[in-house]
Amino acid sequence: MTHPLAATTHDATLGDIHAAALESLPLDVHDYLEGGAGEEWTLRRNREAFAEWGFVPRLMSGRPTPDLRTVFMGVPLRMPILTGPFGVDTLFHPEGQKAVARAAARSGISGMAPEAGSYSYAEVRRAAPDGMAFGQLHPVGSEDAFIRRLAHFEDCGFRALVVTCDTPTAGWRERNRRNGYTPPHAVTGGNFTGGEGTGDAFADLFGGSGPAWTWEKLARLMSGTSLPWMAKGITTVPDAEAAIAAGASAIGVSNHGGRQLDGLPAALDVLPEIADAVGGRAQIAFDSGVRRGSDVVKALALGADVVVLGRLAIYGLIADGEAGVTRVLGLLSGEMANILTLLGCAALTDLDRGFLRPLRQSR
Ligand SMILES: Cc1cc2nc3c(=O)[nH]c(=O)nc-3n(C[C@H](O)[C@H](O)[C@H](O)COP(=O)(O)O)c2cc1C
Repeated sequence: MTHPLAATTHDATLGDIHAAALESLPLDVHDYLEGGAGEEWTLRRNREAFAEWGFVPRLMSGRPTPDLRTVFMGVPLRMPILTGPFGVDTLFHPEGQKAVARAAARSGISGMAPEAGSYSYAEVRRAAPDGMAFGQLHPVGSEDAFIRRLAHFEDCGFRALVVTCDTPTAGWRERNRRNGYTPPHAVTGGNFTGGEGTGDAFADLFGGSGPAWTWEKLARLMSGTSLPWMAKGITTVPDAEAAIAAGASAIGVSNHGGRQLDGLPAALDVLPEIADAVGGRAQIAFDSGVRRGSDVVKALALGADVVVLGRLAIYGLIADGEAGVTRVLGLLSGEMANILTLLGCAALTDLDRGFLRPLRQSR
């Protein structure tokens, strides 16, 4: 199901790529991608929150062209962007996360291979090892099965682990209920079927065992790996503290793009307080609602070290596979560099809240 962009005008902006991607989708897949949980309050709030911050430039700063390079969890990146661990990836393009890995490598960044992806970890890594330095796991299932999954994960050569903590069960997604839609097993089974997979974990993963997990159990099991790990799905200071106490070296501030618990504030709303509380003890990745370069700059100014793309990367993937994701990353990098230049900010390390002002009295 590829839908090559017919003319350059269809990918002149990230908004054009979004529109081109949606044109081609059947309604149930469209709703699965674009929808959120409950009445989609959190999904909407994720976008509104960005509009509540305005920029404060420093004119005539005499600063050189901005340098976007950074290092996240030991992985060098050409810009502070990662692609996220979205499963069900062949719903969007036959090459799925393999195309994302190639685009990430080509763009000098990295992605996060999803446990519930259409291809196995090993297949995604083989497509472009440098483009998939991170892999994602769910803290669910029996301890024995988790230890096996962790060992398999290490064998695949990932440099860091992402543990998704906000998914003890799937969110209450009403569009899917209305459409009677559940993604087919084939698009989530890459790590659970066939020779390279981790066998019987699929049933564990979606079998309702998630709520029985605790930070203490996760800490104990993660002490068995030397890989650095990030806790993804954090929206409160106490959970950030618990994740650090459990050994996480990075915090993923995220509400899963509004797909899990409806009624959570925007991820951007909670980013400053979490960044303040963490105070440099862990690196911070941010996602949920990012749709353009100015969003990335705002999240970085509010305390993120790196920004993770969910749907935005998927729009590129749907629009034109590897080339579409590469185009999304190129447009983001261009817009970020443009905004930082206009702000008079030459180094990511200089980018702080002084470059932003709240546009609402309540802040
Ligand atoms: C179709 C789809 C599938 C996803 N699958 C996963 C997953 O398997 N594991 C995970 O941790 N997050 C998953 N996510 C969440 C993303 O990693 C990310 O947190 C979210 O998309 C960010 O919000 P945004 O799409 O508004 O940018 C998925 C998101 C989408 C849209």
